[in-house]
Amino acid sequence: MEEFLGNYKRSKLCGKFSLKDLGKKVTAMGFVAKYRNLGSIMFIDLRDRSGIVQLSFLESIDSLLFEKASHIRNEFVIAVKGIIQARGKENINPNLATGEIEIIVNELKILSKADTTPFNIGDSNVNENLRLKYRYLDLRRADLQKQLLLRNKITNIVHNYMSKNHFLHIETPFLGKSTPEGARDYLVPSRVNQGSFYALPQSPQIYKQLLMIAGYDRYYQIAKCFRDEDLRANRQPEFTQIDIEMSYVSDVRDVIKITEGLIKEIFNKTLNLNLKSKFKQITYKDAMNIYGSDKPDTRFEMFITDITRLAKKSEFVLFKNSAKKGYSVRGICVKGAANFTRKEIEQLQRIAQEYKAKGLISIALKEDGIYSSISKFFTSEQLKEIINKFEAKQGDLILIVADKNQIVCNALGAVRLAAANKLNLIDKNQYSFLWVVDFPLFEFDEEENRLVAMHHPFTSPLEKDLKYLDKNPLKVRSKAYDLVINGQEAGGGSIRIHSRELQKKMFERIGLSDEQINSRFGFFVNAFNYGVPPHGGLAFGLDRLVMLIGKTDNIKDVIAFPKNQNAQCLMSEAPSEVDMKQMEELSLTITGEKGSGV
Ligand code: AMO
Repeated sequence: MEEFLGNYKRSKLCGKFSLKDLGKKVTAMGFVAKYRNLGSIMFIDLRDRSGIVQLSFLESIDSLLFEKASHIRNEFVIAVKGIIQARGKENINPNLATGEIEIIVNELKILSKADTTPFNIGDSNVNENLRLKYRYLDLRRADLQKQLLLRNKITNIVHNYMSKNHFLHIETPFLGKSTPEGARDYLVPSRVNQGSFYALPQSPQIYKQLLMIAGYDRYYQIAKCFRDEDLRANRQPEFTQIDIEMSYVSDVRDVIKITEGLIKEIFNKTLNLNLKSKFKQITYKDAMNIYGSDKPDTRFEMFITDITRLAKKSEFVLFKNSAKKGYSVRGICVKGAANFTRKEIEQLQRIAQEYKAKGLISIALKEDGIYSSISKFFTSEQLKEIINKFEAKQGDLILIVADKNQIVCNALGAVRLAAANKLNLIDKNQYSFLWVVDFPLFEFDEEENRLVAMHHPFTSPLEKDLKYLDKNPLKVRSKAYDLVINGQEAGGGSIRIHSRELQKKMFERIGLSDEQINSRFGFFVNAFNYGVPPHGGLAFGLDRLVMLIGKTDNIKDVIAFPKNQNAQCLMSEAPSEVDMKQMEELSLTITGEKGSGV
C-alpha cells in the first residue's frame, strides 16, 4: 500500500543540498533515479527537477527501515527524513552538484510505486517515438528539464524587459476568423453557428494592430500560434511567439532598437554574455547575392562570386545561354575541398538540384592539375581568370551554378551551408546576429500566377519605392526586417501600413477583389476609418530562441508536449476520431477515407 505524505514538508529541492547543510535534519522527496543494494548498505539517487541527491540506508542503524528500502525500485516516488553527512573523500562525486554530501536516512515513506518504465529514463538513445509516447517520462530526463527551465527563464526575462519598457501583456483570442495569409489554418467548427468555422491564429497579427488602433500604444504577448504547414526540425504546428507591437513608430530603426535590446537581455542573462554593440544589418538583396539566403549563416564566409561576365566568353553552351537570357553564373570557392570524393560532390549536386538548379559544375584545383568537366570549353587564360576571380588556390574546389538568378542564389546558398557543415567550418559556440532589411514587398507566386506579400499584406512599402507600386511592384521594397541568428530566422516584423488607401491598394495588388477584401478583412479595414496611429512590430519565435540558447537542433526538445512530423501527439493520440454524437452536433460528415491525408 502506498503511503500518504502526512506532515512531511520538504526542506529543499534535491539538487540544492550542500555542505552548508552538514549535520542538519532534512526532509527530501523525489523519484528514484537509481538504487544499489550492497547487502548492508543501500544507495539511492533521488531525483527532482533540480538535480539528484544521494540517500544512504544502513542496515546497522535500522534493519526494518533497510528491509523496507530494499523493495524500492526505479521511479518510485519516495519521501525521506535523515541527516546530511559529508561523503568520504573517495566517495565524492565531482559530476554532481550535491556530490560532496549524502543523506543518511532514518525515515522513509513510499508515496507511489512504479512499474518498470518502457525505457531507462537516463538514456537519451531511445527511439524518439517511444519517448514521445511516454513524454511525461522523457521529461524527467535532465537534458529536457534543462531546456524547459531555460525556457521558463527566458519568458521571465521577456516579461521583465517588456514591462520595464511599458509594454502591456494582452491576450488575444484563439477562436478567430480565418484570414488565410501564409500557411493553412487550423479550423474549428462552431456548434452554435452550424456550418461556420473559427480559425486558430497563425499569429495575433490583426489583433495586435487592432490594439494599436484601440490606443493601447505598446503591446506584447507570449502567444501560441497555429500553422498547418510542412514540419521541419525547427517548425511545429503549434508554436510560441514573443509578439510585439508599438505605436508612433515609422522607422524600422525604432522597432529594431527595442527588440534588439530584448534579445541582448535574453542572451546576456542566460548565457552570461556581454552583448553590447549593435547587431549588423544587411539588405535582402545583398544577403541573397553574397550568401544565397535571406537567413544567412554568417559564422563563416565562403561568399558567392558572380562570374557571369567571364562565363560569357566561354564556349560552354550553358554558360553562354545563361548570360544571354539575363540569367547569371555564380559560384563559391570551398577552401581545402579539392579532394572531395565523387560521392561528396554528387551529394552537393543533389542539394543544388533540390533548389531547382539543373546542375552544379565543379573545378577542383588539385596538386597535379585542374580537374573539371568544363575545362575544355575554356582557354587556359579564361580558366585562370575564373580561378583568380574566386581567389582560389591549390587545394580549393570551385562550385558553379548557371540559371535564373533566384535559383542560382538559392542553390548556392544551400550548397554553401552543406559544404561548411561537411568541413566543420561552423563554430557551434559562436553566436552571430544579423538583421536582414529591405525585403521586397511582393514576390511572384508561380503556382497561383499572382503577386503575394512576401511578409504579410499589412507591411508598409518603403516610401521612396511607392512610385513603383503600380507599374513595377516587384521592385518595391518594404519596411520589413528579420532577425537571423546563426542562419535561423529567429524573428521578423515590419512597420505597418496605417493609411486606409494604401492598405486597400495593397490588397488589390495581391489580387483580392473588393468582395474578398470585405469578406476576409472587412472588420480590419473598417477599423482604419477611425484613427490609426502609425505602428509597427515584430514577433520572435520563442521555441527557436530556446533552441539556439539551449543548443539543440530539435524543436521538440524545447516544447513540453510537442507533435511529431505528422502533426500527431503520440502520447494522447491527437488528432483522433470523435464520437458520432459530436459530429452530429456540428452537422459534420466525413466524406474522404478516414486517416488519409494529402
Ligand atoms: P513570422 O511568420 O515571420 O511573422 O513568424 C515570426 C517568427 O515565428 C517563428 N515561427 C515558427 N516557429 C516554430 N514553428 C513554426 N511553424 C514557426 N513559424 C514561424 C519564427 C519566425 O521568425 N505576424 C508576423 C510578425 C510580425 O509581423 O509582427 C509573423 O507571424 O522564428
